[in-house]
Amino acid sequence: MTRLSSQINVNSAEFKANYDYNKQLADRLHERQQHAASERPQRTIDRQRQRDKLLVRERIGMILDDESPFLELSPLAAWEMYDGEAPSAGIVTGIGRIQGLECMIIANDPTVKGGTYFPETVKKHVRAQTIAEENHLPCIYLVDSGGAFLHLQADVFPDREHFGRIFYNMARMSGKGITQIAAVLGSCTAGGAYIPAMADETIIVKGNGTIFLAGPPLVEAATGAVVSAEELGGADVHTRLSGVADHFAVDEPAALEHVREIAGHLNRRKHNPLVMQQPEDPAYDPDELYGVIPADARHSYDVREIIARLVDGSRFSEFKARYGTTIVCGFAHLMGMPVGIVANNGLLFSESSVKATHFIQLCGQRGTPLLFMQNIAGFMVGKDYENGGIAKDGAKMVMAVSNVNVPRITLLHGVSHGAGNYGMSGRAYDPRFLFSWPNSRISVMSGEAAAGTLWTVGQKRVLAKLGDDATPGQIASAEAQFKQPVLDKYAHESDPYYATARLWDDGILDPVQTRVALALAFATTLNAPFPTDRFGTFRM
Ligand code: COA
Repeated sequence: MTRLSSQINVNSAEFKANYDYNKQLADRLHERQQHAASERPQRTIDRQRQRDKLLVRERIGMILDDESPFLELSPLAAWEMYDGEAPSAGIVTGIGRIQGLECMIIANDPTVKGGTYFPETVKKHVRAQTIAEENHLPCIYLVDSGGAFLHLQADVFPDREHFGRIFYNMARMSGKGITQIAAVLGSCTAGGAYIPAMADETIIVKGNGTIFLAGPPLVEAATGAVVSAEELGGADVHTRLSGVADHFAVDEPAALEHVREIAGHLNRRKHNPLVMQQPEDPAYDPDELYGVIPADARHSYDVREIIARLVDGSRFSEFKARYGTTIVCGFAHLMGMPVGIVANNGLLFSESSVKATHFIQLCGQRGTPLLFMQNIAGFMVGKDYENGGIAKDGAKMVMAVSNVNVPRITLLHGVSHGAGNYGMSGRAYDPRFLFSWPNSRISVMSGEAAAGTLWTVGQKRVLAKLGDDATPGQIASAEAQFKQPVLDKYAHESDPYYATARLWDDGILDPVQTRVALALAFATTLNAPFPTDRFGTFRM
């Protein structure tokens, strides 16, 4: 396989300026992740300790195998929402190995409003379950939650993808043989009680673990009966009298050890259908990615420079290199796994769309998982292109992406606008995982394009107000005034932190850590047999 040859001059001023800029973005990402993971009022941490409880990440550390990586998902969910009161949306989700099996861990964080569910908490929980279901990952629920965040009940309770979906997903996964294990380490109130009740096997901790549909205050209000939490739904009650839980644990470490014991009896084996190679570092240092990504998102760059710093040995076997050159397609290996890469290198034209469609079909035929690398301002516009049928060529790509029978992962390493997002396996196309970079931008179109479009359709009204004798200067100033709020809004809403807060992705990755994260994610996809979907009708 051909080794890519980088054209980047790592000693140039441009490289250094890009490097400093992107390194700062990465440092800010780590600071924010650290903040979301650990900044809590001291009183909530003290309360955990007084109750002999571990913090949520300590719990996860205790159930994972030694040396297991943990691919944390959406650590910045709810970032800058709810006045900062819901760091990580109050729940930690991610993939790690337990007894050698890749498992999805879904763990409430009781130091965030009693582990209650904000809208993004529900979204994050359901997203983790979706990933588990698609990739056949046993689910481990570390439960410690007061249920719905009652102030926002309309946004967490009634709809299809709200709280009830969690239990539906558990039932459906159990039906498919995807194991559901719950460890009740704290409160499990109201709807939350269904997590342990729906699980295949449940452990509950003496003293701290409680499961009930209505807690003592509500029981007293409704019936007048005064009852302690332990009598109502503690570990002894549920493992001896009610049978709602299966295993009694004397303390948290015992409960977490029991989770590992159960995972040891799952009798599962991963069937890897891929022909693997010996993993090999890229020939170019991934650290150079900081210098490769332009500080100005509008500057173009050759995506092969990124591929060279992600894939094994920087080797890339390119497909149709001379045709439809605004898309780069080819085969590579990522930590020994074969992958097909579809990466933008400019706008999408008819030729690039049909080339990508052809390549996606090849990957489906060969059973090679696909990596989509998005840096796409959209499809080419204009009379010639419309007359040439660019819409039907884009549709071919969308058809191929939607139905190809191999796992897909999408990385937003630049901008993501318009129908380009669709053809390139955007969120709506169910890639198994979607990650972004700190420099990425996502919106229907760029702020400049949106402001220009809105000005074109709205200027008549603005100019009418100015009157016929408006000077060019007045018109220019009115135009600038009209456009500025649109530009500001787009700048704010296309920011990757705005996107990740709302779970439009599965997390922002430091470019340097991307190779490892992608490899873990691709390895995860191999737990499920490849889908058997067929392509629909391609518009010719
Ligand atoms: N909705 C909104 N806020 C809630 C909440 C809920 N369901 N449950 C707890 N909170 C808030 C508390 O007001 C408190 O806020 P503050 O830090 O701003 O004062 C914070 O979460 C922590 O609650 P607190 O009771 O101090 O912590 P705790 O660890 O002693 O107890 C619970 C946690 C969850 C066991 C307890 O708060 C509780 O039982 N809550 C009610 C649960 C319930 O009935 N839920 C119904 C769901 S449908």
